[in-house]
Amino acid sequence: MIILDGKTISKNRKETLKIEVNELIEKYNKVPTLAIIQVGSNSASQIYVRNKIKAAAFCNMNTRLIHFEETITEEELLNEIDKLNQDENINGIIAQLPLPKHINETIIINHIYESKDVDGFSTTCKGKLFSGIDSFTPATPTGIISLLEAYNIDISGKEAVVVGRSNIVGKPMAMLLLNKNATVTVAHSRTKDLASVTKRADILVVAIGKAKFITEDMVKEGAVVIDVGINRVDEKLYGDVDFENVAPKTSFITPVPGGVGPLTIVTLLENTVKAFKNQNK
Ligand code: GUN
Repeated sequence: MIILDGKTISKNRKETLKIEVNELIEKYNKVPTLAIIQVGSNSASQIYVRNKIKAAAFCNMNTRLIHFEETITEEELLNEIDKLNQDENINGIIAQLPLPKHINETIIINHIYESKDVDGFSTTCKGKLFSGIDSFTPATPTGIISLLEAYNIDISGKEAVVVGRSNIVGKPMAMLLLNKNATVTVAHSRTKDLASVTKRADILVVAIGKAKFITEDMVKEGAVVIDVGINRVDEKLYGDVDFENVAPKTSFITPVPGGVGPLTIVTLLENTVKAFKNQNK
């Protein structure tokens, strides 16, 4: 069993990105910049946003955090996005999710210019992903594909099972795996006899947000297991996979923390640098 070391891979990719950023700064006399819109004080969002800012700083990139009270209206938020869309110093824009209930996330995300939608969450980007057209793709599933590739894990022709059907992980994950020629099944909370589905997987990706939900009996011998879950229980972090008991059965498995999470952030920064280059062509 080999641990998929997302932390080290992400560190190496940040080092590489930093070199490229320095060259871009030299060439254009401008710094690749990511705007982060945060609304309210969701505790998970606080941590994600802090980590994104820290990683960007490591790569010599700029971030502009625009933090609003929970009470901001949809219209005010749209006005802010208008300004960021027009601002030549901003290359990428993300709205940290979740947004408060009174704000329609789809409307907000679709207001971001496609050229700056480095999260790839807009309907246009998702449609392009669906059609196999090059676009920004969501950072978590894109990071997972790059992690598999970094370890030379074949995807083509493999049985891939994605557990979870969220718009930001499960669905784009399924599409990215399909584009790499996997045979893909998406399982979810209504799937009957989930274990019989997950046991088919050569590559099992789990993103459901339930600590230690995937147990040893649900995994095929020699499977590659990717755990997207980050669940806080009694101040400790657990993935969606019961790592201790599942790991010995697998060929490769991601730890939590230190697996998928760090790759999500570096992929977002890479997307921002790609946006910068497109905008400065
Ligand atoms: N909330 C949880 N994950 C993400 C992410 O990757 N991007 C944004 N914008 N919000 C999130």
